[in-house]
Amino acid sequence: MQKNELKTPYFMIDEAKLISNLEIAKRLKELSGVKLVLALKCFSTWGVFDIIKPYLDGTTSSGPYEVQLGYETFGGETHAYSVGYSEDDVKAVADMCDKMIFNSQSQLKAYRHLIEDKASIGLRLNPGVSCAGQDLADPARQFSRLGVQADHIDEEVFSSIDGVMFHMNCENKSADNFITLLNSISDRFGRYLDNMQWVSLGGGVFFTWPGYEIEKLAAALKAFSDKHGVQVYLEPGEAIITKTTDLVVTVVDVVENGMKTAIVDSATEAHRLDTLIYNEPASIMEADENGEHEYVIGSCSCLAGDQFCVAKFAEPLEIGQKLHIMDSAGYTMVKLNWFNGLRMPTVYCERANGELQKLNEFDFQDFKRALSQWSVQ
Ligand SMILES: Cc1ncc(COP(=O)(O)O)c(C=O)c1O
Repeated sequence: MQKNELKTPYFMIDEAKLISNLEIAKRLKELSGVKLVLALKCFSTWGVFDIIKPYLDGTTSSGPYEVQLGYETFGGETHAYSVGYSEDDVKAVADMCDKMIFNSQSQLKAYRHLIEDKASIGLRLNPGVSCAGQDLADPARQFSRLGVQADHIDEEVFSSIDGVMFHMNCENKSADNFITLLNSISDRFGRYLDNMQWVSLGGGVFFTWPGYEIEKLAAALKAFSDKHGVQVYLEPGEAIITKTTDLVVTVVDVVENGMKTAIVDSATEAHRLDTLIYNEPASIMEADENGEHEYVIGSCSCLAGDQFCVAKFAEPLEIGQKLHIMDSAGYTMVKLNWFNGLRMPTVYCERANGELQKLNEFDFQDFKRALSQWSVQ
């Protein structure tokens, strides 16, 4: 299989880049004693889990199928968390998870008896402070439903749990900023934490970002762990998979209506949803900020405003030309959908030795089955 022969659209996961993120994760673990569980909500392409497994301690999840996926394909510790469990959900995952984290005191009360002999039990607390660029992704936003807020805590609850989870960061690239949040948690909730076995500090700590002060982060995590006598966990998603994967597309048309638009054989709405939800333009590998030729990189969906970005190029784009939409793994492959009946991107991994391996491919039957399996009689 040669790269230039592959049909677009496709994702290409680069093993060497993934390993360089994982090496940083390993270092953080060694320096701090923290355990790391992969947040499957961000990335769950299990075909590459054999690469990730030696570096991390397990997985964490947001819904029952993620628990099962982590249990079956990753192993290690399986953390189960959900914003809202049904009784069936709790029963379904009880025998698969090592830790079960409830989002509210009412859920804890309702379902504790189903899990107490089977897993370590935790409760999500809302620290009331956060670092998140957008309100939509801010767990401490007004009226947040994510975790128990400090003034709603019934102190007796701590006698019936082993640990707590906080999640309050989104792409936080500053160790200092994280430490401020950590200190606030320690001050505000410390007397409860002292009686816990473990504390998860959630995800969103971007410790693989270039220049991130890993040593500073590690020292703070270690001090927190020593002070409260707890095993600390982080739940990284984006930090593990960042900058490892391109979505490769082909220019299928160029139209000009005031601006040149290159239409590609993919759409943000179907294949890169967060570009649209968070209004964060994608980056194109072939772009050149000093280039003279400016294009909207437009999706081939029917949504009028569906575009990847505006970018400049040194040469005019040509129909048939491939473009690499960079950093397309986190919160992307987990959100793929069949809108407009577009071709679903194939998924490949480029191994560190240069070999290309196909992890998934989709066809019309997959599209059809996603819509109905049976017709009315
Ligand atoms: C509870 C929890 N843990 C972990 C994560 C992973 O965050 P990230 O991918 O930013 O590291 C999230 C993301 O929303 C989360 O809600």
